[in-house]
Amino acid sequence: MYIYKTAVVGAGAMGAEIAQVISFSGVPVLLKDVDQARVNQGLDTIRKVYQRRVDRGKMTQDELEKKLALVTGVTTYDSFKDVDLVIEAVPEKLSLKQQILKDLDQITPSSAVLASNTSSLSISALGGATARPHKVIGMHFFYPAHIMKLVEVIPGLETSEETTGDVTAFAESLRKLPIRVNECPGFLVNRILMPYLNEAAFCVQEGALGPRQIDEAMVAFGFPMGPFTLVDNLGFDVCREVVNVLLDAYGSRMRPAEIWERLHDLKRYGVKAGAGFYLYGDRAGKDDPELDKVLHALRGASKTDSEFSANRIVLPMVNEAIRCLEEHVCTAADVDLAVVAGLGFPQSKGGILHYADELGLQVVLEELERLAKRYGERFWPSPLLKRKVGAGHLGEKTKKGFFDYT
Ligand SMILES: NC(=O)c1ccc[n+]([C@@H]2O[C@H](COP(=O)([O-])OP(=O)(O)OC[C@H]3O[C@@H](n4cnc5c(N)ncnc54)[C@H](O)[C@@H]3O)[C@@H](O)[C@H]2O)c1
Repeated sequence: MYIYKTAVVGAGAMGAEIAQVISFSGVPVLLKDVDQARVNQGLDTIRKVYQRRVDRGKMTQDELEKKLALVTGVTTYDSFKDVDLVIEAVPEKLSLKQQILKDLDQITPSSAVLASNTSSLSISALGGATARPHKVIGMHFFYPAHIMKLVEVIPGLETSEETTGDVTAFAESLRKLPIRVNECPGFLVNRILMPYLNEAAFCVQEGALGPRQIDEAMVAFGFPMGPFTLVDNLGFDVCREVVNVLLDAYGSRMRPAEIWERLHDLKRYGVKAGAGFYLYGDRAGKDDPELDKVLHALRGASKTDSEFSANRIVLPMVNEAIRCLEEHVCTAADVDLAVVAGLGFPQSKGGILHYADELGLQVVLEELERLAKRYGERFWPSPLLKRKVGAGHLGEKTKKGFFDYT
């Protein structure tokens, strides 16, 4: 299927970025929001992204105007009658997204693909709101979309292979790295990321180390930023919503550390709120008696003899990734591509499953068993890991693990 004309519904943080990416590839795109002011804000965001390219000498002013001319801001669906693909990027509310998909189902040609940029809602539930569930699919970009290469392509229960193929090819034409993620709650990247962020939070609330020391340790491990800097940038409120989806779907292994709740109650949502695990703005780098009080209360109540190691927070990611393999959510190669391109996992380690293979799967299993005894069942090793070890597939040293090294 050729995609000649597209539309993005919702001109907020993600919608505007996605429309910019599409226009950059030379494809016309309608950008719709509820009123002209919001449409203008979206157009302004796009202009700023292009202007930065001009300022860095990567584009001329003339080229900027030509690219911008491919984006048409609208407040109605009048011009949606000949679109080939629509990506919705409205707020993360099932009823709102279902209503939008219903409207799009009425207005767009029956051949058009309806994609959702949802971070956590069920693609099958969105498809079910339309008479064309075979044409409904998840197309999950990461923020900021003009920089982040990864796109999770998520077919729902009834999405056709043709739709999945069309959207994958389209994402490639945008110069992105699409990976196929068979639908599961949290999809792939958020599902793997949250256990890592959560375990780092457990380490802090138990008093193993402070946020800054853990951030420094993970930067030394090879991440571009530590888990607490990342969570403050993502936004505590956003992460909490994702954690709740994961908790609801997978049960107690996703139970959030209490400190998340305490900081949320204090509205310390991260950078955008001026405070999270760190202070920002005028208070950056200053003493933080509020956080000290929270930590004092939690550490006083904690009976755990705590420890921090990079593996204590990385192995829960490895374990969750193995569960994804077990459930056929994606391939081992796509897991590694996703963590490097989507999470900044050190490229030098090749991705988390290559990292596990390098450590040795027996070592990974023994460490998870030790951590499970000490900290509880969230470390319980996945059955596939045990099967691999039982079969003697121990990673690089036996030339067989999650990858083949022969
Ligand atoms: N922000 C992120 O980091 C991020 C990353 C990946 C995915 N997402 C997902 O992208 C989606 C959008 O998130 P966001 O951060 O851009 O939200 P946002 O609040 O910045 O933007 C949403 C926009 O949708 C508009 N809108 C609401 N109802 C509408 C309607 N009926 N028709 C047209 N427009 C309408 C709003 O006016 C707003 O401009 C969510 O599903 C979110 O989960 C967000």
